[in-house]
Amino acid sequence: MTTTVPDGVKAGMTAPTTSAEMLPQKALIQLEGVTKVFETEEVETHALSDVHLAVRPGEWLSIVGPSGSGKTTLLAVLGLLDTASRGTYLLDGKSVLDLSPTERALVRNRHIGFIFQSFNLIGDLSVYENVELPLTYRGLPAAERKQRVEKALERVGMSHRARHMPGQLSGGQQQRVAVARAVAGEPLILLADEPTGNLDSKNGESVMQLLSELHQGGATLIMVTHDPAQARLGTRMVSLFDGRVVQDERLR
Ligand SMILES: Nc1ncnc2c1ncn2[C@@H]1O[C@H](COP(=O)(O)OP(=O)(O)OP(=O)(O)O)[C@@H](O)[C@H]1O
Ligand SMILES: [Mg+2]
Repeated sequence: MTTTVPDGVKAGMTAPTTSAEMLPQKALIQLEGVTKVFETEEVETHALSDVHLAVRPGEWLSIVGPSGSGKTTLLAVLGLLDTASRGTYLLDGKSVLDLSPTERALVRNRHIGFIFQSFNLIGDLSVYENVELPLTYRGLPAAERKQRVEKALERVGMSHRARHMPGQLSGGQQQRVAVARAVAGEPLILLADEPTGNLDSKNGESVMQLLSELHQGGATLIMVTHDPAQARLGTRMVSLFDGRVVQDERLR
């Protein structure tokens, strides 16, 4: 195992050049000894084994590894869609593993944006309504929802399709709407599981371009990908094998 990610900017070594470098390098995500075991009648599957991972604000992690190595399970734990069997998870300094289901849903809605391979838009809601829905769950006032939805759709270049239904859009456009939905709530982290897996190369590239722009704007991104070229767009590449982190490499 090689670990080439430095522990943080060492004080006094270099003059800080950006505000990000002047901030204390507090981890946004800190997993320690995270293990996930799926138990079925006959077998136990160790989907994650003793995962340690610290992610700082503004990083863009590419998670890679063979099929079945635990990538989706890791995102599910990070996104509070599933709980670890053992270990600790601090999100923005707070432990989130022992929250009640209701509290978990609140943290998820407030702090995490998801982008899935299959877009997961609601077919009988318009583009606008899809992006608005998580903000409605959060109880934001209508005026603020409107402002956020319009801004998010503009960001992904989909304002002109606000009244369309998802079925009237191309795959690439649907994924752009899904990105708008994920960012409208201004989450702490964006999680993407093979975001271009269902797209042709041209649409895939435009979605990757969008993710790059979000990263440049300061978003913290954790993206699962099978595509080595996409993986290298990140600032760091974490390789899983059999549920373990076998490589953690700083890319830039
Ligand atoms: N709900 C479940 N019940 C039992 N086993 C599961 C469950 N979900 C995942 N697993 C097992 O956990 C392991 C990791 O699965 P995971 O979906 O995280 O892999 P992955 O790296 O995302 O693979 P892929 O690249 O094919 O998407 C696999 O062996 C899988 O069979
Ligand atoms: Mg997967």
